[in-house]
Amino acid sequence: MRGDGMEATDRMTVLVTGGAGYIGSHAVLALRDAGRPAVVIDNLVTGFRWAVPEDVPFVEGNVADMDLVGRIIAEHDIGAIMHFAGSVVVPESVVDPLKYYRNNTAASRALIEAAVAGGVRHFIFSSTAATYGIPEAIPVTEDAPQRPINPYGMSKLMTEAMLADVAAAHPLNYCALRYFNVAGADPQGRSGQSTAGATHLIKIAAEAACGKRGHVAIFGTDYATPDGTGVRDYIHVSDLAEAHLRALDTLMAEPTRSHRLNCGYGRGFSVREVLDAVDRLTNRTIERRLEPRRAGDPDALVADNRAAIATLGWTPRRDDLDTIVRDALAWERGLK
Ligand code: UFG
Repeated sequence: MRGDGMEATDRMTVLVTGGAGYIGSHAVLALRDAGRPAVVIDNLVTGFRWAVPEDVPFVEGNVADMDLVGRIIAEHDIGAIMHFAGSVVVPESVVDPLKYYRNNTAASRALIEAAVAGGVRHFIFSSTAATYGIPEAIPVTEDAPQRPINPYGMSKLMTEAMLADVAAAHPLNYCALRYFNVAGADPQGRSGQSTAGATHLIKIAAEAACGKRGHVAIFGTDYATPDGTGVRDYIHVSDLAEAHLRALDTLMAEPTRSHRLNCGYGRGFSVREVLDAVDRLTNRTIERRLEPRRAGDPDALVADNRAAIATLGWTPRRDDLDTIVRDALAWERGLK
């Protein structure tokens, strides 16, 4: 039955920042597939206009532009914000930290201020496992110490801190989703990881499998892991997008509570296991070059995801490395 109040919440329009980017575009697809209205703001520095469906209102602009964001909030009666926009390359954050404090921390501050001024009630924030730094224990729970080891992680942790203070002072609740290693692509082939100059393992391996790179480097073979290579918790981007929809419902259902939740599957794969999967699925052998460790890489990073599952009623549906790799490969093959 509609008309019982559900309709009003279902119709709440969501402003998606960074909606033309990799993860944001998948969230836009998930919202649209669920029949929920969305508006995208993206400056198209790393995002792509084609990644946003034609029937979703799109504004090219900067989330730090408070006048612009204020106008969008008023014009579209925005009730919630999903904030994906930001810079995401860890090594770049080490050489250009102020870019990260500008694009992530300062831009988020302006966006949150515009949200409060415009009466936005719910805020979903793209946080990261990088806020934990080198974890003391695996799997990582949400109450583990947050001690980032790079400016990227710190820029995101500072935004989490702002949201906690703002939620205590204003009628806005938030959900910080701490992503582990996001990979894969929309199973229907509508979006995927497209940004040039990839640094992420599955993207790089997919490029190599498609002949766009000659080899894949394995950064470090002496980690304290079963095969000596780094272990990560890879999560399918469509499952992550779905978690954002569940987060929105959770925030709307209990508007006085906020949440900080890990998004991963709760189990890890090594670099060698990932490359084995790519080889197996392509029936080829990608050349592997053993290289020294990359600075700042922890041995293993695996989420304890029980809180996200319990709090959000989230059901991961693509918790399978081969599925993630297959979707990443399909997308890579279609890219020019
Ligand atoms: N790796 C390689 N070769 C490569 C690329 C990566 O061996 O060419 C290894 C890394 O050393 C690591 C694993 O593959 O062991 C995964 O590396 P990614 O670069 O794909 O991802 P990270 O774990 O470094 O980074 C991810 C997110 C970041 C986030 C971080 C949290 O992409 O946004 O987790 O620590 F900050």
